[in-house]
Amino acid sequence: MIAVAILAAGKGTRMKSNLPKVLHQLGGKSLVERVLTSTQNLSPSRQIVIVGYCADQVRAEMQSWPNLEFVEQTEQLGTGHAVQQVLPVLQGFDGDLLVLNGDVPLLRPETLEKMLATHQKHHNAATILTAQLPHPKGYGRVFCDAQMHLQEIIEDRDCTPAQRQNQRINAGVYCFRWSALAEVLPDLKAENDQKEYYLTDAVNYLDPVMVLDVEDYQEILGINDRKQLATAYTILQDRIKDAWLAAGVTIVDPDSITIDETVELGTDVIIEPQTHLRGDTKIDTGCRIGPGSLIENSRICANVQVLYSVISDSRVGDNSRIGPYTHLRGNVHIGEKCRVGNFVEMKKTIIGDRTNVAHLSYLGDATLGTQVNIGAGTITANYDGVNKHPTQIGDRTKTGANSVLVAPIRLGTDVTVAAGSTITKDVGDDALVVARQRQSILPGWRPISSKKT
Ligand code: UD1
Ligand code: CA
Repeated sequence: MIAVAILAAGKGTRMKSNLPKVLHQLGGKSLVERVLTSTQNLSPSRQIVIVGYCADQVRAEMQSWPNLEFVEQTEQLGTGHAVQQVLPVLQGFDGDLLVLNGDVPLLRPETLEKMLATHQKHHNAATILTAQLPHPKGYGRVFCDAQMHLQEIIEDRDCTPAQRQNQRINAGVYCFRWSALAEVLPDLKAENDQKEYYLTDAVNYLDPVMVLDVEDYQEILGINDRKQLATAYTILQDRIKDAWLAAGVTIVDPDSITIDETVELGTDVIIEPQTHLRGDTKIDTGCRIGPGSLIENSRICANVQVLYSVISDSRVGDNSRIGPYTHLRGNVHIGEKCRVGNFVEMKKTIIGDRTNVAHLSYLGDATLGTQVNIGAGTITANYDGVNKHPTQIGDRTKTGANSVLVAPIRLGTDVTVAAGSTITKDVGDDALVVARQRQSILPGWRPISSKKT
């Protein structure tokens, strides 16, 4: 049986933030959520989060996680003190306890599985994750023998200059036989530079303890300041991009784009520079996205082109072309083979197949049929200052340049709206509608001052 405990009580002073450190976001998820996610393959029977600084806020942010148990560490007297708070909760628990710092968000699930396998195979009292770091400053140093049995962990600030040369560091990820840990936890002393109760001391008391080096040291980077948070984001992004490159996606300039891990891409998608794909977004095969586009929570069907545009919470059908400079938001559905062009904004609007909205339009709360042509500058006046109203436009209808459709309004099929019209009354099928002042010409007219003499 496995229990998981995550240390999330610290303030994170070095973040210089009003937000507790473990709630800082990394690629759309908080640090503590990422740590929890990395343990899910182990199917833990208990999941304990140790909270302290801004405990209520941390609890509230984790509401959507089922079966979490929160343990409060009211005073933050160190990582050992934090795990001491678990003693009453896990009384009589007969299994292994995985302890993770809440600020180690890049762990791969396979790494934890490997650590647990080593731990169980050798019947260790504890197994700890370590890494050889090029710049080990700030981390606890781990000393072990050739068989990878632990000799000692010493915190950076408690090291002698010679000890500090050791590049093997403690990742802050531990697997304990709970019964063994529970026995030594009450004996911790705060005899160190920080006057804190160190979990690493508990490890030092146990035997046998084995050390497992991670292959990719980036996995165990701890987040203590904003610079490390930014570095972690880059690492996360590199992982995501490398996976899509391997899966048959072209990314023209990887450094200039970002992709959330929740995004799905088809083969032969081409992602041009300065493009950002976020949230629950799916892009089908053959699409060319960007340069300069932001797509969030949207479905882009096959062979679509999106150029310098922003699309959120929307869907675009096969073979359509979007942009440059289009903004689709709040439940827009674009049919197949449509063209939506320069400076067009749409909100909560459905347009049928082969319908074009090519220039300078705003369509809100509108439903358009197939093969409609919306002329340059056509606007739906959907808002009367209090309520939003719908516009309906039938198949093959064309609006002239600069028409205003004052909603609620309905235009039938095969309607032509004359340029510059302001339409306020419904129009049936198959008609021309003109709603503008007739042009008058006064021959020979001049301003008074320039009258002919
Ligand atoms: C700790 C380890 C160090 C290791 C490093 C890896 C100890 C004594 N040192 O150092 O060996 O190399 O992590 O990143 O454990 N926390 C609490 N309650 C507390 C103190 C801390 O819950 O009273 C939580 C923090 O919120 C954080 C985690 O424990 O998530 C680690 O604390 P932090 O202060 O960052 O430890 P480090 O100094 O980095
Ligand atoms: Ca840390």
